[in-house]
Amino acid sequence: PVLVVDFGAQYAQLIARRVREAHVYSEIVPHSMPVADMLAKGPAAIILSGGPSSVYEEGAPQVDPALFEAGVPVLGICYGFQAMAVALQGQASHTGLREFGGTPLSIAEGGGVLLRGLPDAQSVWMSHGDCVTAAPAGFTVTAGSPAAPVAAFEDVSRRLAGVQFHPEVAHTPHGQEVLRRFLYEIAGIEPTWTSNNIIEEQVEAIRSRVGSKRVLCALSGGVDSAVAAALVHKAVGDQLTCVFVDHGLLRAGEAEQVEKDYVAATGINLKVVDASVRFLGALAGVIDPEQKRKIVGREFIRVFEQAARDLEAEEHVEFLVQGTLYPDVVESGGGTGTANIKSHHNVGGLPDDLQFALVEPLRTLFKDEVRAIGAALGLPEEIVMRHPFPGPGLSIRIIGAVDEERLAILRAADLIAREELTAAGLDRSVWQFPVVLLADVRSVGVQGDGRTYGHPIVLRPVSSDDAMTADWSRLPHELIAKISTRITNEVREVNRVVVDVTSKPPGTIEWE
Ligand code: XMP
Repeated sequence: PVLVVDFGAQYAQLIARRVREAHVYSEIVPHSMPVADMLAKGPAAIILSGGPSSVYEEGAPQVDPALFEAGVPVLGICYGFQAMAVALQGQASHTGLREFGGTPLSIAEGGGVLLRGLPDAQSVWMSHGDCVTAAPAGFTVTAGSPAAPVAAFEDVSRRLAGVQFHPEVAHTPHGQEVLRRFLYEIAGIEPTWTSNNIIEEQVEAIRSRVGSKRVLCALSGGVDSAVAAALVHKAVGDQLTCVFVDHGLLRAGEAEQVEKDYVAATGINLKVVDASVRFLGALAGVIDPEQKRKIVGREFIRVFEQAARDLEAEEHVEFLVQGTLYPDVVESGGGTGTANIKSHHNVGGLPDDLQFALVEPLRTLFKDEVRAIGAALGLPEEIVMRHPFPGPGLSIRIIGAVDEERLAILRAADLIAREELTAAGLDRSVWQFPVVLLADVRSVGVQGDGRTYGHPIVLRPVSSDDAMTADWSRLPHELIAKISTRITNEVREVNRVVVDVTSKPPGTIEWE
């Protein structure tokens, strides 16, 4: 792999993703990992990420000079660039000059391998208060910026290079090209990390792990479990049984999509459990969001457990498939005790007497890779490109108690919003589009000469990368108008449509 050494900013994940977009496998490791352990992973190259510290600060993470003696190609970025300079006996200083945001880069000396032929005075994204003031011996300085006399250097013979700017962010237009040049030209890595290769490797790994044992998977209708199950099915065929618990809280057409389109595309063995009566019964009268989540989570486990026991009664089931993604793995390894804002419900917490070994074929993958693999496996576009949808489903999009009638209102409004977003060709630019029913709120309206006293619907389209932060989507007014008109015309109980214009933070994406 290419190891991305995390110096504690949010950039490491982005760098790892960019490396993979260049079709090279990458993994994130903490800066506290000893060099010997890094080398034990047999890295094809190492990238030192940016970080919040100042190199000369007390306790700032250092780079062990041994890293540069192993013959492994290394690229330093921002803090990693400065730490690299210091470790190799160059100089970094606190000059008092800072650069934040788009900054002109002037390329010197023909630009070396990393910058050769790129436009001079291109804009790059900077975020630094310290800078390298003298490159280490043997390095050529290939660029500078107003506040960073040494903004890039390289020693191609030792396969070492560094840049002060952030090539991984979209605000550095030629950044991906710089990364590619490091990977292909300086490190000499072949771009072999492609969907087909990933599928082949995973299928191989699943086969050897599972052997002839039986495997169970809970399908949620979301991308992750759908792709995970399809991979496992490709590997072990009918040894896999999928269970789809229909909790009655899905949007219009979603349960059918799993039952028909997904099965048609994959040929997977699917057991559908219609448990909507049970879920709605347990949710009756419940208003508190966390309570709703707990109930849905608990009922889900119970229903799934029963389905698992039924299967187990036929023949022992050894493995359970989970759609865990790489960011979850990185974040839970980070262990920085983040505040529990909402207790996200997942398939965990199965009882002790039902124990499975886990198969997690997506553990090394980012979401966009999962989508690409789903497409390569022939899954329908509606499943592969589906927006994220919360496990508790529409129960947390009805503000107030949940019942069949309210669900029907919300489903009708939500379907209109989704149809119009798709018709406007904006499915990809909007990250997620919750539609929320304020079930306990009424407002006065007038329709067809008569007074109405109906419910408001909230449109909550957002743009985001990872749901940690989000901004409200600036949908075209025409589109909002169309959605509003259709909802108030077609959904009798709704007489008002509002748009949520709150970013996250301070708002969360969902209303509950
Ligand atoms: P918030 O509302 O916290 O949501 O900004 C961030 C992302 O998580 C989804 N979400 C959930 N997903 N179970 C889930 O599986 C949950 O309980 C849950 N709550 C929120 C939300 O849709 C968004 O994508």
